[in-house]
Amino acid sequence: MQQAAVNPISDRISLISVSSTMKVASDAEKLRSEGVDVVDFGAGEPDFPTPENIKQAAIRALDQNFTKYTAAGGTAELKKAVCERHAADFGTDYKPSECLITVGGKHVIFNLIQALINPGDEVVIPVPYWVTYKDVVNYAGGKCVFVDTDEAAGFTLTAAMIEPHLNARTKLVIINSPSNPSGAVLDREEFEKIFKLTSSRGIYMMTDECYCKFLYDSEPFSIASLPGAKDTVLVAGSLSKTYAMTGWRIGFGLVPQAIVGAMTKLQSHSTSNPTSISQKAAVEALRGPQDSVKVMLAEYHKRRDFVVQRLRAIPGVQCAEPRGAFYAYPNLGVLIGKNGIDNTLILSERLLQESHVAVVPGEAFGTDKHVRISYATSMTELERGLERIHQFVVKNA
Ligand SMILES: Cc1ncc(COP(=O)(O)O)c(C=O)c1O
Repeated sequence: MQQAAVNPISDRISLISVSSTMKVASDAEKLRSEGVDVVDFGAGEPDFPTPENIKQAAIRALDQNFTKYTAAGGTAELKKAVCERHAADFGTDYKPSECLITVGGKHVIFNLIQALINPGDEVVIPVPYWVTYKDVVNYAGGKCVFVDTDEAAGFTLTAAMIEPHLNARTKLVIINSPSNPSGAVLDREEFEKIFKLTSSRGIYMMTDECYCKFLYDSEPFSIASLPGAKDTVLVAGSLSKTYAMTGWRIGFGLVPQAIVGAMTKLQSHSTSNPTSISQKAAVEALRGPQDSVKVMLAEYHKRRDFVVQRLRAIPGVQCAEPRGAFYAYPNLGVLIGKNGIDNTLILSERLLQESHVAVVPGEAFGTDKHVRISYATSMTELERGLERIHQFVVKNA
């Protein structure tokens, strides 16, 4: 008879938890499959289709049998297109040798942190944070150092908030502007001050530019464009949101050549290359017309205004104004402690089961009174879902 392994799961895997955003999606999907009319504010992905020119490029790749392995770190053509796009948008001067193509933005962040962080290294992460940072740092054996931001000022981050947390063990500071989940945008002046703090101490700064094109009141900017930035600034990019390409799985890193080498080594033993067809589509996304990005931004802007105004109309609810991305992060503290709603995990579960609205609990992002609402969905769904949230709050507060 065969013996079952005593501890089937490695200690390493127990350092990470299930992504809450994925859990919400599966809970909502389960209800939907039972025939329930669920309004889904959980999904962090554009509701727009991938633009036609990008799809056509993928069809051409198939027709031309571009369906084999490519170099593990991506094709030379795509690396060049990434560098050229970044240069055109932000005035940077990366070379293809400083670029790595990955299987989505999450993959570049995972590989970067595994390539960089030793056990005990400290990584500074502003709160609220995107779920994945914490888990990938834990997985690498690093120590997360969380920094609070100012909710009253729209979850603003300043250099003064970061500075007290930097010490000899700090290896990396993670900046995500615009932020998932709050939509906060780091002002250029503060960004530069944080860069001075980190670069002068030889600390790396990872700038997650996943939402860099979705800004409502400021111009796109990359900290990597500052003179001397390329030594310590690590750009994590993704085509997922910018070009409505979440399913295609293309991300990229713009980092010093030695780090490209380390990340490529890791990638060569795990995923190997990102899908060849997606890489061809990504070249078209980056080199082709950019109008679709503007169209999406205009639509998100309209929805942002509606969502914030509608949330603020709910008694007891506050909502900081998101200045970018496509999330609102309202404070529903008015419900915590009422009617058995002890935390936002219970709140989100009750909202889903009783009012059939899916949101992501703030606990996933490091705060205890908020939920994340994705407004990458139609106005009709926003109207329906926000009315349900309104009724839920009135009933339970
Ligand atoms: C802040 C942030 N960074 C990176 C990503 C990664 O995106 P993807 O792996 O879909 O390219 C996401 C996705 O939600 C995100 O919100």
